[in-house]
Amino acid sequence: MELRGATALVTGANRGIGHHFAVELLRRGAKVYATARRPELVDVPGAEVLRLDITDQASVDAVAEVATDVDVLVNNAASTAGGSLVTGDLDAIREVMDSNYYGTLAMIRAFAPVLAHNGGGAVLNVLSAVAWTTVAGNTAYAAAKSAEWGLTNGVRIELADQGTLVAALVPGLVATETLRDFAAGAGVTLPEGVLNDPADLVRLALDGIEAGEVEILDRLASEAKATLSGAPQTFDLAAVAGA
Ligand SMILES: NC(=O)c1ccc[n+]([C@@H]2O[C@H](COP(=O)([O-])OP(=O)(O)OC[C@H]3O[C@@H](n4cnc5c(N)ncnc54)[C@H](OP(=O)(O)O)[C@@H]3O)[C@@H](O)[C@H]2O)c1
Repeated sequence: MELRGATALVTGANRGIGHHFAVELLRRGAKVYATARRPELVDVPGAEVLRLDITDQASVDAVAEVATDVDVLVNNAASTAGGSLVTGDLDAIREVMDSNYYGTLAMIRAFAPVLAHNGGGAVLNVLSAVAWTTVAGNTAYAAAKSAEWGLTNGVRIELADQGTLVAALVPGLVATETLRDFAAGAGVTLPEGVLNDPADLVRLALDGIEAGEVEILDRLASEAKATLSGAPQTFDLAAVAGA
């Protein structure tokens, strides 16, 4: 779909990949709602800034009531800090599922009628290659991304009749502060050769939306997806990345 003249809503636009989505959508001629839990932290000149916590139904409903002209929904916001499934904090495990799965679902349920009314449009869910592998030290996050992948596939079928493109952006490793902090905390050296620049990743994603693609992968994600036909013991993003 054509992004020039479209109206996009980006979740988690106050930092990281979401910030780059909002900036690049504006650059391509879209109107942009840049949303965040703390709107005062959004620095995207030209965007309309709205407060939004995707895990708070009242917050989601309030935004859907205001942003009635949206035809591109970018579900980027999520907790990436689930920790370990067996020994980690259960509240963190619930929170990572709440934002990645239920929060994304709440946004899609609230905006499906808006998108239908505006001609179909597109939903872009930001997944992760860990949805197809896992990652030691953050297995709860990986499981939540797997759930979000299933959600994306289901919603694609359910929204096909209203003409909504439901696409997945599946990055491997993206050089955001959050990833660098996680790696430093885990004592892991990031494989710089396969790290995406967030601005490059966003351009890849939006080129994909303009081309009508349903799954937009970077190199590491393509390699992670290929492991799915192999033995489950090989499902490990660090091994795929050669880290
Ligand atoms: N970086 C990577 O290597 C990588 C790789 C693959 C996929 N991804 C995915 O890309 C997306 C963005 O990641 P990132 O690296 O840019 O992370 P980030 O810098 O940590 O940004 C996460 C964003 O999500 C927001 N958020 C979290 N929970 C929210 C909620 N309940 N309601 C509204 N906003 C919420 C955060 O807001 P606050 O500032 O208020 O916390 C922040 O704006 C995520 O879906 C992540 O899973 C990242």
